[in-house]
Amino acid sequence: MKIKKILVTCAFPYSNGSIHIGHMLEHIQADIWVRYKRMKGHEVWFICADDAHGTPIMLKSKQLGIDPEQFIISIRDEHISDFLRFNINYDNYYSTHSKENLSFLTEIYHCLEAKGLIKKKVISQFFDCEKNMFLPDRFVKGSCPMCLSQEQYGDHCDQCGRTYSCIELINPKSVLSGNKPILKNSLHLFFNLPYFSTMLQSWICSGVLEVSIVNKVMEWFQHGLKEWDISRDGPYFGFNIPGFLDKYFYVWLDAPIGYISTFKNLCNKIDHLIFDDFWKEGTKSELYHFIGKDIVYFHSLFWPAILEGSNFRKPTKIFVHGHVTLNGLKLSKSKGSSISAKNWIKNLSSDSLRYYYSTKISSKIKDVEINSDHFLHKFNSDIVNKIINLASRVAYFLSNYFDNFLSKNIENQSLYSDFVDNTKKIEFFLEKCDFNLVTVIIMQCADIANNYIDTKKPWIISKNIEKYDNLHDVCTLGVNLFKILMTWLKPIMPDLAKKTESFLNIELVWNNVNLPLLDHKISDFKPLCKRITKRQLIFLSQK
Ligand code: MSP
Ligand code: ZN
Repeated sequence: MKIKKILVTCAFPYSNGSIHIGHMLEHIQADIWVRYKRMKGHEVWFICADDAHGTPIMLKSKQLGIDPEQFIISIRDEHISDFLRFNINYDNYYSTHSKENLSFLTEIYHCLEAKGLIKKKVISQFFDCEKNMFLPDRFVKGSCPMCLSQEQYGDHCDQCGRTYSCIELINPKSVLSGNKPILKNSLHLFFNLPYFSTMLQSWICSGVLEVSIVNKVMEWFQHGLKEWDISRDGPYFGFNIPGFLDKYFYVWLDAPIGYISTFKNLCNKIDHLIFDDFWKEGTKSELYHFIGKDIVYFHSLFWPAILEGSNFRKPTKIFVHGHVTLNGLKLSKSKGSSISAKNWIKNLSSDSLRYYYSTKISSKIKDVEINSDHFLHKFNSDIVNKIINLASRVAYFLSNYFDNFLSKNIENQSLYSDFVDNTKKIEFFLEKCDFNLVTVIIMQCADIANNYIDTKKPWIISKNIEKYDNLHDVCTLGVNLFKILMTWLKPIMPDLAKKTESFLNIELVWNNVNLPLLDHKISDFKPLCKRITKRQLIFLSQK
């Protein structure tokens, strides 16, 4: 197998609030994929950062009476520890408010400018007279000019997914004061996105996005691409545009450039890691972005155009996921239906969320509903009743009759080989992020393994001393099937995998999945995880 160099990113969470279980979907999805790729032997670098700029962060820090610079530092620490609680350990978790990011942003801006891709234009923009500031898109609400859906923000429409200029909104209102904003002139800088139209269309159709998403993105070309406003007037928390007094780069320009600068910062810490191997145009290394459906426009149009325009490589693939809903509700802080990552961990394990999400994650953009009853049922019936139970049933006999030594024989070679053969299908689906299908196959196999034990009835064989050899072989095969199941589950449930490793006294290695454990001493079986109770779920429905 050829070892690949791979760089993986998640979208950068904004520095203005806690990580919630909606964010976790993306980070868990990417982490499972990264763990799998590493188990296969590839060189994988996994990075993320906080998206530190923009008006909401400026206003929030002002409200708290803290400098934005201070504010974003404490939020970043909190985010890093939230991810660690879910076994997500980034090689680098940086910030877009960094010297490296300013340096790449400046370099890219000058490069685009030199190529004539930046234009200056005076535009009319919404201004809140009471707050004495220009209103960023997110601070104006109204009806979408394309599909007429109401209560849409000024930057893009949640209903039809299109982006538009804020002043096109129908019946606009300032979110800050509730007043109708006035129009005021200001000089802005625009990136010539339409120039890249042809390149983008062929890039989008080259396999970088799932087919269903390609269709959606191609619709955006029908209306023609628009020039992209990359500047904002002060007051703003961001990077100053060279040559202007109180103008800043729009957060969505410097945010994805953070993918580059976060990696650069990692290279500064690791000697053998070479920046150009990953970011130079034409490199053979691979770049994968994991994002939610709400930011496809930014990642499939603006971002590749900026990269092309400034001579950097473009992404190999963009994995897009849907949004998490909880018991039928959108995750919303104001409605109390947003559950923080910390709160989840106080009540439930990280592996339980990782497993539940896996049963729902697919390569299609589908929203992911967390239903409390279904969650409890799924975890207890799949993980506790099928996986853990398989191990505990045979461990009892191995410990009481064979001093925890496994036999030297495979009791049913064809059953064992057929079982292992599922690895190819599992790899195929893991590769595409069809984790739902991975869990279906694993549970079908767990049923086969449990049926095998049911048919062999070790509790009966154990009553006849002459059949002890057979008892030994049956339980040994049971443990081996459990080992295979847990090797497949290792990227999904790292905590359970770790406990399994100390029970089996081995490391679960992907490429050893077909090697049976024979004539080997295992440890005493201790319960590997607990059944989830209804009481543990109360926090999910508290408002
Ligand atoms: N800061 C930008 C991303 C910049 S990337 C260069 C941003 N931040 S965000 O905090 O709003 O969202 C970060 C990621 O979390 C996005 O991919 C978004 O889709 C995802 N999610 C936020 N809420 C979510 C759910 N309720 N469900 C699933 N994913 C969600 O966008
Ligand atoms: Zn719309």
